[in-house]
Amino acid sequence: MSRIRIAVAGIGNCASSLVQGIAWYASQNGDAPGLMHPDLGDYRIEDIAVVAAFDIDRRKVGRPLEEAIFAAPNNTKTICRDLPRSGVTVQMGNIFDGVADHMHEFPAAERFDPADLAPVDVSKVLHETRADMLLNYMPVGAQRATEHYARACLDAGVAFINCVPCFIVSDENWAAEFRRRRLPCVGDDVKAQVGATITHRTLIRMLAERGMKVDSTYQLNVGGNTDFLNMLNRDRLASKKISKTEAVQSQLEQPLDERQIHIGPSDYVPFLKDNKIGFIRLEAIGFGGVPMNMELRLSVEDSPNSAGVVVDAVRCCKLALDRRIGGPIIPVCAYTMKHPPVQMTDQEARAGMEQFIAAASFSAAVGSPVASASADGSAAF
Ligand SMILES: NC(=O)c1ccc[n+]([C@@H]2O[C@H](COP(=O)([O-])OP(=O)(O)OC[C@H]3O[C@@H](n4cnc5c(N)ncnc54)[C@H](O)[C@@H]3O)[C@@H](O)[C@H]2O)c1
Repeated sequence: MSRIRIAVAGIGNCASSLVQGIAWYASQNGDAPGLMHPDLGDYRIEDIAVVAAFDIDRRKVGRPLEEAIFAAPNNTKTICRDLPRSGVTVQMGNIFDGVADHMHEFPAAERFDPADLAPVDVSKVLHETRADMLLNYMPVGAQRATEHYARACLDAGVAFINCVPCFIVSDENWAAEFRRRRLPCVGDDVKAQVGATITHRTLIRMLAERGMKVDSTYQLNVGGNTDFLNMLNRDRLASKKISKTEAVQSQLEQPLDERQIHIGPSDYVPFLKDNKIGFIRLEAIGFGGVPMNMELRLSVEDSPNSAGVVVDAVRCCKLALDRRIGGPIIPVCAYTMKHPPVQMTDQEARAGMEQFIAAASFSAAVGSPVASASADGSAAF
């Protein structure tokens, strides 16, 4: 079966874990742990190949991908040091709003260090490299840069996976453009494999299903990677807060008053590197009006946690391309992303995604098998 050709924008920690993970699984004997789907619609992880890469950091641009992923300020755990030569050189992107001003106050080893180079024409590169899809890993708050990569995908006829909380796939105007061009898209904002969001969603739903009245909750996260450094600027956080808060609120029949829920990145602790620590507290009222509370501390390596989900989003997106389905793949977005076009419970989303993987042809719009797709890429029954 043909390989899956991906382009990646933003060669930070998440891209590093993804590239290393692909090589690591390729070197294992087939029963390695850590995957939701070793095979997904006949695609395996080792079928994914990076064919183009974009960044703006002088320590990454111009270098082979397999070297750039280890360049500072990347600091995630090494999964696989010995990588095959990719033949891909990281190319200069358009900076736009990718670099927050406050980063200059930090040591170069911890922050982005933009190169002084002219940007390439992203859509031309996507076309020339015959990329199937582009994965967007822009920093939080880089709405303009994200839109630039999304537009390049539309121009080049390439699918789009939006791993970040800048709203594209969950924005109906953008979604309609992908649908019209019959290009699949998955987004927005990756819901990590076992991270704070899915844990918080699961716990709050369990409380509600057991008849507890949830009163208040918080989720505080700290980490020492550039994602956390970038998020020290609260002006960049608006969509991240919406994405993370809605992901939890959506699991309750009756959303909490906004003063009773607090979710967000809380601080940058450099020595933690890519280790993210999440603190979750839930307060609820049970039988007889008696209160209870629970607290949980979660410690995870942030970036492999995202790659574990992205490898499924990529393979589902490739299935949609194979089946000529355009627009957001609704259940896949709901299962793999925090801010999908339609929120579901994780159980519903998982069932829908399995149905999508299994179906011979499928409606991206409603999540049920269909006979064919119409000329504009939308589903027909
Ligand atoms: N780790 C997770 O589990 C997780 C989950 C959900 C979302 N995310 C999001 O994914 C995104 C990427 O995370 P990360 O940890 O890899 O971040 P990172 O800071 O390590 O990487 C971002 C990269 O983008 C580059 N960049 C900045 N502006 C650019 C531009 N205009 N064009 C091209 N490259 C540019 C930077 O130089 C850097 O290499 C963040 O927005 C993060 O919030 C991560």
